[in-house]
Formats: sequence, structure tokens, C-alpha cells
Amino acid sequence: NVKRQVVSLLLIVHFAARAVCLPARIRCTISAIYAHFVERGFFYAAMQYWRKVRLLWRNLMRPIRDDIPPDADILVVGEAPGRQEELDNKPFVGTSGRLLFNDILSRAGIPRTRCASTNVVPVRPPNNDISRLHELELSIEEFLPKLEDIVRMREWKLILAVGETALQALTLTAGVTKQHGSLLFDRWRGLRVVPMIHPAAILRKYE
Ligand code: URA
Repeated sequence: NVKRQVVSLLLIVHFAARAVCLPARIRCTISAIYAHFVERGFFYAAMQYWRKVRLLWRNLMRPIRDDIPPDADILVVGEAPGRQEELDNKPFVGTSGRLLFNDILSRAGIPRTRCASTNVVPVRPPNNDISRLHELELSIEEFLPKLEDIVRMREWKLILAVGETALQALTLTAGVTKQHGSLLFDRWRGLRVVPMIHPAAILRKYE
């Protein structure tokens, strides 16, 4: 019957995943789904399965790429990608990005070609709301090593912390409104960090 076929399929997928050394996260998910099939009944397991597949898709397939041109000497760190960034697979290409690069930074004499851009979290949170990241079974902390690698990648002349999440991740300091435009230093190497209010907050205010 269908149930038996699904269970054996999951078993096969599980051992195949082990055999090809898939990351622990995928293996755990497959075994958890298998356990649900055995213990909690078909419908419950099917719902869990669907939820997990959606989560896996978002978590593993959708992290957007960083934009790090070879000659960039300024690092721009945002919070997390929005819808446009997810579609284009590049940070800061939506409305906030245009305000940041085409208005604020270009007026300050900083062209986009000098800037590398990344986000603390490379996955778009539900409804662009970072406080809902846990709904994807993700946390900011698990992405900090990746951010540290990027900070250590080059002798950045300046790191721009765009918004509260970036400020806290880079400097362990809170309060971007108060710190806006001040000079701080990053927690790993002591490079110069200038915090700024997130352009999305400015856009929301004047909407
Ligand atoms: N806001 C961010 O913090 N990062 C992006 O890439 C886009 C919008």
C-alpha cells in the first residue's frame, strides 16, 4: 500500500543521503520524517513532510549570493535580503538598495563598484521580518561565522553597518539610531565600522 511504499522510499532516501554524505541537516530531516511516519500516522507525517520540504527549500536552496567585486574596499553589511534580492540573487538591488547606493552613497562620493555587499542573514525571513527568522528554524547566530569570514577576507577600508542587526552582529553594540554616523570597530579584527539607519526605515517613515 501507499504508506508502506512511502516509508520504504524514505528509508532508501535516508541511507542514500548517508552514503553520499549529505549535510547532517538534511539527514536529520529525512530521519525525523521517517520517525513521524512510523509513530504518528500518515496524515501528520505528510503535513510535517510538506512543511520540512518548504523549509529545506528556503534554507538550503535560497540563500542569496554575496556581491564581492575584486577591487571593492568598502564592505556594506545589511540585515537580510528582501523579495527583489531573492529574485535577482544579489544583495541590495531593491528599493532600499537603490536609495542606499544611488542616493546616499553616490552623493557621499562612494560608487557601487567600490563596495562589496552582503547580509548578516543570507535568507529572506518571512514577510521580511527578522524577528520571524525562527519560523524557518534559523537563527542569526548560525550565520555569524560566515560574516566573520567575509570581514577577514580583505583589509576593508570601511565597513558600513546598515541597520540594527548589522550593527549588533559586527560590533556587539546596540542602538543604531544613536550610533548613526559614529565610528566603531568590528569585533573580530578592529576594522572601522560606521553604522547607519537602514534605508528601509527611512522609506517607511516617509511612505
Ligand atoms: N535590506 C537589507 O538589509 N539587505 C538587502 O540585501 C536588501 C534590503
